[in-house]
Amino acid sequence: MAIIFDTERQTFKLDTPSSSYVFKVSPKGYLLHLYYGASVPDTDLDYLRLNLHSASFSANVASPEEKGMTLDTTWLEYPTNGISDFRVSALSIRGATGSSATDIRYKSHKIYAGKPGLPGLPATYVNSDDEADTLELTCVDELTGAQVVILYTVFTKLDVITRSVRVTNTSDKSFRIERIHSTAVDFNDSDFELLHLQGRWAKERTLVKRHLEFGLQGIHSKRGSSSHNNNPFVALARDGYTEESGEVYGFSLVYSSNFAAEIEVDCMRSTRVLLGINPEDFGWLLEPGETFTAPEVAMVYSNNGVGGMSRTYHKLYRHNLCRGEWKTKKRPILVNNWEGTYFNFDDDKLVAIAKDAADLGIEMFVMDDGWFGVRNNDDCSLGDWYVNESKLKGGLKSLVDRVNALGLKFGIWFEPEMISPNSDLYRAHPDWCLHVNGRERSIGRRQYVLDMSRADVRDNIFNQMYKILSSANIEYVKWDFNRNLTEVGSDLLPPERQSEVAHRYMLGVYELLERLLTAFPKLLLEGCSGGGGRFDPGMLYYSPQIWTSDDTDAMERLEIQYGTSIVYPPSTMSAHVSASPNHQTGRSSSFKTRGDVAMAGAFGYELDLTKLTDDERALVRQQVEAYHKYYNVIQDGDYYRLINPTEDKANITSAAAWESVSQDKNEILLTYVVMRTQVAISRYIRLRGLDPAKIYTDTASGRKYSGALLMNAGLNLTGGWKDGESRVWHFIAE
Ligand code: DGJ
Repeated sequence: MAIIFDTERQTFKLDTPSSSYVFKVSPKGYLLHLYYGASVPDTDLDYLRLNLHSASFSANVASPEEKGMTLDTTWLEYPTNGISDFRVSALSIRGATGSSATDIRYKSHKIYAGKPGLPGLPATYVNSDDEADTLELTCVDELTGAQVVILYTVFTKLDVITRSVRVTNTSDKSFRIERIHSTAVDFNDSDFELLHLQGRWAKERTLVKRHLEFGLQGIHSKRGSSSHNNNPFVALARDGYTEESGEVYGFSLVYSSNFAAEIEVDCMRSTRVLLGINPEDFGWLLEPGETFTAPEVAMVYSNNGVGGMSRTYHKLYRHNLCRGEWKTKKRPILVNNWEGTYFNFDDDKLVAIAKDAADLGIEMFVMDDGWFGVRNNDDCSLGDWYVNESKLKGGLKSLVDRVNALGLKFGIWFEPEMISPNSDLYRAHPDWCLHVNGRERSIGRRQYVLDMSRADVRDNIFNQMYKILSSANIEYVKWDFNRNLTEVGSDLLPPERQSEVAHRYMLGVYELLERLLTAFPKLLLEGCSGGGGRFDPGMLYYSPQIWTSDDTDAMERLEIQYGTSIVYPPSTMSAHVSASPNHQTGRSSSFKTRGDVAMAGAFGYELDLTKLTDDERALVRQQVEAYHKYYNVIQDGDYYRLINPTEDKANITSAAAWESVSQDKNEILLTYVVMRTQVAISRYIRLRGLDPAKIYTDTASGRKYSGALLMNAGLNLTGGWKDGESRVWHFIAE
């Protein structure tokens, strides 16, 4: 078992292959955190606790058994509000007394093989019970009757511990949950940098780093989505860490809506990390007998720097989060017509693109926005999911049949959560969008957001989608979401439950996604939110790939894909070759470079193929061949970031480089892209993750190198590089 309970010391020890996580139960039932870090064999860790009960302002736990312990400076496993711990709390429940002081004490526990699912929520899972063990720790707040079950799952082959919490009201009076974080970890120092992924529309997930300071710090989203701006992920990287060395602790929330990571460094320089649903504007009324389940956090420990953490998340999310038919199946190379035509298309135009796609070896055609209602621009028809037959003459089935006849699969775009004020649906149901009666409804991209907390709204959208998807051989859906939630109110809930709407909305979306995949289990779903505004583990549970960004410029994508790879595997990052000059930035880049950059993700095209020159067509053929040849090493290999494009700007050529290494270390793919060149400047690049004893052959030149040489001396890339130039090396071991 990866989890043991030392009864004598009342201590729990959770072991992954390289980490240990230890906490104990105090005589009065408090859960005291003791250690999280590199593996240790011991369970006698009580000596590590701070013993500062004499500090004059602290409130002591009034009992002889606890010897005057103060929670104020004690490391706690799941800290609650309003008792003698004054740091930011993980749980706050307002009971019938009106007070929010919350005091949970250990009652019992059980340990078992495997991992349970979370009702209504996405979560990591095990493929067989020997992949993980689970601890369910039951605590009780006697006054409110809140039963709090803290769940820990320990993966046996990955350095991953997941946590979540469920609260059941065992009393006969309702209470209100006001804060409920999914994880809480106290560290005994603050010698860390805080890493997170910050961004905006068309510039998602830039890795930022800042040293921890005294007080509260963190990130959050209150946009009703995980957001372009902050990803639901933080890491603490111990001082002295690098990309490939040192201790890094990752915290990633499997959720797609409002979240907060709250990190507090207290006066003892201890650090508390909390991650879960954003407490701002959240509250949940729990009636007797009801249970609330908080989403899951996946915690990763790495002793191999940020890169080690990323590779663990990649494995976890590829094999234990993504699901279904397309989980690890080779994805079809697609062409999407959005940047090729925008709204200006008809069936013949789409078939012309599909014909060229078939000729070039592309495997799927995706029809983007503009095929439904009377939509010729973005000011109407969301919610009216019936085919615009003046655009698609002969109807959808005829179009799909024509595309299928060319040997291509067919995919389609939806934005199921939205409603245009100018739509038949809105005219029939003006109360179906999120709104607060008496307040103006904010408009975004000329649309409102449907109230997905309502079953009748979800039924309507499901039925419309079902009709479309069963009307023709449609094998892929791009699920878009193009604005944030505002005036988050629902007509069907009483005033005291309006603070539940944002979470209920998300649960409704998850339910709709599940229903769709149950009805069409072979469907390949691609997530999207104005690019990558909802690129999070919650959505990956339903859609194994997500449109990474609306910025398709290859140079910009280097930075966006670098940041995204901190948590998310290449197979999840949709990346397309688009036209040059790029529509978003106006920047020109070569067709080859655009292909090399897009090849690092779920590969495809997003341009009008009928406009390509013969040279470009030849390059598409080469790229299609390369995709098939390198697919396994890119998608199943270990990913190493070699040059950070956002930092490599000083005295040397600004560039990006990354490398994929097959699991048996016999195949290597290295990509190098020069962003801004300089003349007469040297550059060496050292590879990583190879077997030093193996001899690797560069398959293009036939030149042989030992793994040791490639890792210690590297390749010499000096000289002759032009702006935007890229090169790919493929090595095979003998
Ligand atoms: C935003 C997406 O990110 C784009 O790819 C495209 O699908 C548009 N929406 C369509 O409106």
